[in-house]
Amino acid sequence: MMVAISLANIVGIALFVLGLHYLNTPATARTGNRLAMVGMAIALLGVLAETGIVDWWSVLIGVVIGATVGIVAAVRVKMTAMPQMVALYNGAGGGAAALISSVEAFMAFAHGSSFDPVVSVSLVLSALIGAVSFAGSLIAFLKLQELMTGRPITYTGQQFVNGVVALGILGLGAWFVATAGDVPPWAFLALLAGALLLGILFVLPIGGADMPVVISLLNSFTGLAVAVAGFEIDSILLIICGALVGASGTILTVAMSKAMNRSLTNVLFGAFGAAGGSEPAAATGHVQAIRTAGSDDVAVMLAYAGKVIFVPGYGMAVAQAQHSVKALADQLEKRGVRVLYAIHPVAGRMPGHMNVLLAEANVPYEQLLDMDDVNPEFATTDVALVIGANDVTNPAARNVASSPIYGMPILDVDKAANVVVLKRSMRSGFAGIENPLYEMPNCSMLFGDAKASVDALTAAVKAL
Ligand code: TAP
Repeated sequence: MMVAISLANIVGIALFVLGLHYLNTPATARTGNRLAMVGMAIALLGVLAETGIVDWWSVLIGVVIGATVGIVAAVRVKMTAMPQMVALYNGAGGGAAALISSVEAFMAFAHGSSFDPVVSVSLVLSALIGAVSFAGSLIAFLKLQELMTGRPITYTGQQFVNGVVALGILGLGAWFVATAGDVPPWAFLALLAGALLLGILFVLPIGGADMPVVISLLNSFTGLAVAVAGFEIDSILLIICGALVGASGTILTVAMSKAMNRSLTNVLFGAFGAAGGSEPAAATGHVQAIRTAGSDDVAVMLAYAGKVIFVPGYGMAVAQAQHSVKALADQLEKRGVRVLYAIHPVAGRMPGHMNVLLAEANVPYEQLLDMDDVNPEFATTDVALVIGANDVTNPAARNVASSPIYGMPILDVDKAANVVVLKRSMRSGFAGIENPLYEMPNCSMLFGDAKASVDALTAAVKAL
C-alpha cells in the first residue's frame, strides 16, 4: 500500500511539472491543464489513502459540491472577469494553508504539546502568509468586481500603520517560535487577525489595473504558505506543489512588472492611477490634431494591402470583438493579404489576455507574434490595425523621458506605412496619458465600439 501511495505522489508531482511545461505555449496549454488536473486527482487519492482520516462518502460529497461550484463558475465567468476569479481561488488556497496551521496549533493547545523548531517556524509562516494572501485576495476580488472602489485607497501615515501591524505580527510569531508554541491561544488568534488585517491594508493602496500584478504576487504568497505547511504536516507533495506555485507566481510577477517598466515596489506602493486617470484628452486642455477615417476608406486600405498587422488590446476584450476580428482576417486572407497579430505581454488586463481571446476565436497560433518578433515587421507593413489597444502602442514610451510609461517596451505600430486606430473616443488607456501616435501623419482614427467597427470593415471588404 505504501509503495502505491508513494508512486501516486511521484506521478502526481511529475504531471504538475509536465503540465506547467506545457503551459509555455498556447498550442499546448490545454494539454498542460488536463495533465495537471489528472495529477491533482492522483495526488488527492494518494493523500486520502495515506491519511485515512476521512471516510470516502464525505470526500465524495465534498468533491461534488466543489466541482459543481467550480464548473458553474468557470462556464459562467466572462473573460474580462477572469482576474477576480483567479483572485478568489487564490485566496481559498492561502486560507487553506492558514487553516492547516490553525488546526495544528489548536490541537497542540488542547493537548498541551509543543513543536520542534522547524514545525513552529513553518506553522507561524504558513498561518501568517496564508492569512495575508487570503484577505488580500478577497480585497482584490472586491475591487475588480467593483463591489468597492477600484482606485487606490491612500491616507497619510499608511506605510507607518502597515509597518506597525507587520511588526506586531512578527513579534507574536517570534514569541510562538521561541516558546515552541507554548503561548496562550489568544496570541495565535491575534497573529491570525493581524495577518488578515495586513492583507487588507496591503492591497487597499493598489489601483484596479495593477491588480493582476498583485494577484500574481499573492499567488506566489499562497504557494509559499502551502509549501511551508508541507513541512508542518510532513508532506513532500505540498512542499513541491507549493514551491511550483510560489516560483511560477514570482516569475510572472517579475515579468509583468518588467513589461510595464515598473519596479514591483512602484506597483505595490506607487498608488498608480490614484488621481486623474482616464480623462478625455480635451479635458486636459490639449486638443489633438487628429484625422478620422470612415470604415469604407479603411476597408479599401486593408483589402489592397500586402501585409496587415492586427494589434489587439484591452478594448478588443471589452467589446468581445475577437470573433469579428477573425472574420475580418479571413476576408482579407481570401484576398491574398498576409495577416499577423502583434501581442504585447501586458496588452489587456491579465497575462495572456489576448492569446486566450484569439485562441477562443480559433486564430492560428503561428499568426500570433510576440513583441520582439513582430516589431521588425512593422516597417514592411502596409496597415497596422490597432483594435482597442492604447498604452502598448504609445511612442511616448520611447521618446518622452517625462512620460509615466517612459522605457516601457512598446509595439512599434507607428513604423507601419498606415496606422488605423479603432476606439470609441479620445479617452486615454490604463496609464491615463495622451498618445502622440494619434497625431502622426500616417495615423487615422476609426471611432466606435471595436466589434461594431470591425464588423463594418468586414462587410465593406466583402462588398469590394
Ligand atoms: P489600454 O491602454 O488600457 O487602452 C485600451 C483602449 O481601449 C482605451 O484607450 C479605450 O479607449 C479602448 N476601448 C475600451 N473599450 C472599447 C470598446 N468597446 N471598443 C473600442 N475601444 C475600446 O489597453 P492596452 O493597450 O491593452 O494596454 C494595457 C494596459 O494595462 C497597459 O497600460 C498595461 O501596463 C496595463 N496592465 C496590463 C496588465 C496585463 S497583465 N495585461 C496588468 C496590469 C496593467 P476608448 O475609451 O476611447 O474606447
